[in-house]
Amino acid sequence: MAKKDKQYVCQNCGSVYPRWQGKCDACGEWNTIEEEAIGGGGFSNFNPKKSKGNIIDFVALSGAQEHLNRLSTGIKELDRVCGGGLVSGSVILVGGDPGIGKSTLLLQACAKIAEQKNSPEVYYISGEEAIDQVRLRAKRLQLEQSPVKLASSTEIKDIVATLEKSKPAVVIIDSIQTMYLDEVESTPGSVSQVRACSYELIKLAKRKGFTLFLVGHVTKQGAIAGPRVLEHMVDTVLYFEGERGHHFRILRAVKNRYGATDEIGVFEMQDQGLIEVENPSALFLAERQGNISGSCVFAGIEGSRPVLVEIQALVSPTGYSSPKRAVVGWDSNRLSMLLAVLEARCGMNLSSQDVYLNIAGGLRISEPAADLAVAMAVISSLTNKPLPADMVVFGEIGLSGEIRAVSQPSLRLKEAFKLGFASAITPPTHSKEKKTNVNMNIHEIGNVQRLINWFN
Ligand code: TYD
Ligand code: MG
Repeated sequence: MAKKDKQYVCQNCGSVYPRWQGKCDACGEWNTIEEEAIGGGGFSNFNPKKSKGNIIDFVALSGAQEHLNRLSTGIKELDRVCGGGLVSGSVILVGGDPGIGKSTLLLQACAKIAEQKNSPEVYYISGEEAIDQVRLRAKRLQLEQSPVKLASSTEIKDIVATLEKSKPAVVIIDSIQTMYLDEVESTPGSVSQVRACSYELIKLAKRKGFTLFLVGHVTKQGAIAGPRVLEHMVDTVLYFEGERGHHFRILRAVKNRYGATDEIGVFEMQDQGLIEVENPSALFLAERQGNISGSCVFAGIEGSRPVLVEIQALVSPTGYSSPKRAVVGWDSNRLSMLLAVLEARCGMNLSSQDVYLNIAGGLRISEPAADLAVAMAVISSLTNKPLPADMVVFGEIGLSGEIRAVSQPSLRLKEAFKLGFASAITPPTHSKEKKTNVNMNIHEIGNVQRLINWFN
């Protein structure tokens, strides 16, 4: 029987099938299965019995550790997200929607690195844009004098051969979906190509000890296009996100072998490129109007940093048989749960009201600690009574209406105090916890029923 040379691979999760089918059984996605050649990326044709592997050494857990040498990018927000600088030999995947500013950020970073004192070699390889396009951007960013080595190529073989002969400190591949390896028969951007190209580049980065940035496209669902395995192959995954209409951009670490995850870096996209935002709270609150019902300031934590944001709610009588709930920047299921708690425990009638919720500034919040601030914003809009403009709120709400403690209350309060807030609504402090030493009016509330008192 002739040996099969084709297989069918789900472009979403990487599952392999012998023949085409409409739906992937593994991840449940439709129309993601595509034909690919077998043998791509050197993953098949391996016979363990015939291969002559070397014996690997095992060592004890204790012993002298290698000191992590971190290279600063010159962009503080990027350093923070990477865990305090770039680790040599590490691989960083940067994902984000088209046009969000990935190429801009990386060009700015590599220019800054190349300008450092001991002049590290920085290579920027673009597979998407021609040399002139990148030069045009560099000119716009006023970086054209920076000693970055720029090339336009999509051939992994050429790239690897070139890097092999040089001493790079940082290499940027923009983007991994445009790269191509001859040995693999599929088109650029397919699972096997992305996997094989990344594999070759990562191997080289580890061996030569340079930091490798891979730019990855993001699908409509928000995952990095190509196989999930790419996320496992790299050390750090950063997402660059932001709303189209807003000029804020948030760089978020979703995986980091060399630092904390959920750390964010905040940037503002301006004419001269991305500008770092050192005090995000001030920026997110900049357009806030005081004395308006439905607005509440939440003292949140993103990674290791406190961030204050305004939560806006609008509650209005519904014209539909089932009321509308629309959420931007928060979890809509969490909102439904909160509204149910307010109905059941506080006797509020929200089933005849449409509820709209918005996190101002385009930030996405995933902390449950925002529950209390959301509830306050909803009640404020429903009763049409504004909250004091100098008040911050945080706390998690349980199904029985109890308000639960959240992490790092003192850090949140300190940030609020720094920005001139005078009062706060917080969960009750237990006797074991240290009282926060800030000069603010702190109201500890243990149950949502007591929230209503604020609005009478
Ligand atoms: P880009 O870095 O090309 O995005 P990506 O690589 O993620 O696809 O960003 C392009 C967008 O940024 C484009 O819409 C124009 C805008 N931009 C500015 O507003 N100011 C600038 O200085 C630059 C270089 C780009
Ligand atoms: Mg780009």
